[in-house]
Amino acid sequence: MSNLPKPYYEEPGIVIYHGDCREILPLLPDKSVDLALTDPPYGHNNNNGDLISNWEAALGEGPAGPPRPIPGDSAAEANELVRFLFEQSKRLLNQGCCCCCCCGGGPDPQFARWSLWMDEILGFKMCVIWDKGGLGMGWHYRRNWECVLVSKTKKWNGGLTTPNVIRLPRIIPNATQHPTEKPVELKAFFIRLHSDPGELVLDPFMGSGTTLVAAKQLGRRAIGIEIEEKYCRIAVERLRQEVLPFEPSQEKLELEQLSIFQQGGHPDQEGLKRAIEDWIVEDAIKESERHGS
Ligand SMILES: C[S@@+](CC[C@H](N)C(=O)[O-])C[C@H]1O[C@@H](n2cnc3c(N)ncnc32)[C@H](O)[C@@H]1O
Repeated sequence: MSNLPKPYYEEPGIVIYHGDCREILPLLPDKSVDLALTDPPYGHNNNNGDLISNWEAALGEGPAGPPRPIPGDSAAEANELVRFLFEQSKRLLNQGCCCCCCCGGGPDPQFARWSLWMDEILGFKMCVIWDKGGLGMGWHYRRNWECVLVSKTKKWNGGLTTPNVIRLPRIIPNATQHPTEKPVELKAFFIRLHSDPGELVLDPFMGSGTTLVAAKQLGRRAIGIEIEEKYCRIAVERLRQEVLPFEPSQEKLELEQLSIFQQGGHPDQEGLKRAIEDWIVEDAIKESERHGS
């Protein structure tokens, strides 16, 4: 990895590169990654502005704030980035490992186009639905789900009851957060299913580092790449905070978010949290068995 640029941030097991993943991914060695888990730009100009401030403005709760565009988020650029991601994943992934790619759920048929590209380049395994609960953006068919495409893989730590719909509340970002921050539990779900402790997770569109936070909590190594320095900075802050899984403040925040939704709660939310806590314990046992202690 000698030609790689100097990392923006490093701590044991975690590296962040600030830069364009089109320049950095080609420098990573073949078959060096155990899971590519990412959330690329979806190609709809962050819903033509800032999702949350547009929403609040639409509900008469103040004027729309300044738009916070996401780099590479025009339809043409996002499509180019995602094809590049799949092609690089083919080279970078270890035998039997997979790519999990978030791809939205709005009016653009990205999920259909990207599924076919995934199938062509990596082989397609599943489209997992993230049910975000109460109503989101849009006027006709308000958006309350996104999907995550999973490529063919032999890595499977799930059971016979692992579903392909998961229910977790969305993050309602404030002005200091990434405008499309994903829940740590969403990333933890895929990391746990498709990698083992100590393995390497790659997120080439890292944003504010949610994949890296989840990987750290689950004892995986991780590399994140992000083109915007301000998001690298947030990721570093999040990683530097002591990462205690599901500390009370985080739980409280999520409950507050739940109350924003008008349509009931998320019956699976507590269950999923408990499952992730159990996984952390199971992983620790596996690790200690592996080291013969
Ligand atoms: C949808 S956001 C990811 C948000 C992230 N999941 C989180 O929880 O914070 C996509 C990110 O990709 C970054 N990006 C866009 N083009 C990029 C490129 N060529 N190389 C690296 N990062 C890029 C954007 O700046 C944006 O932060």
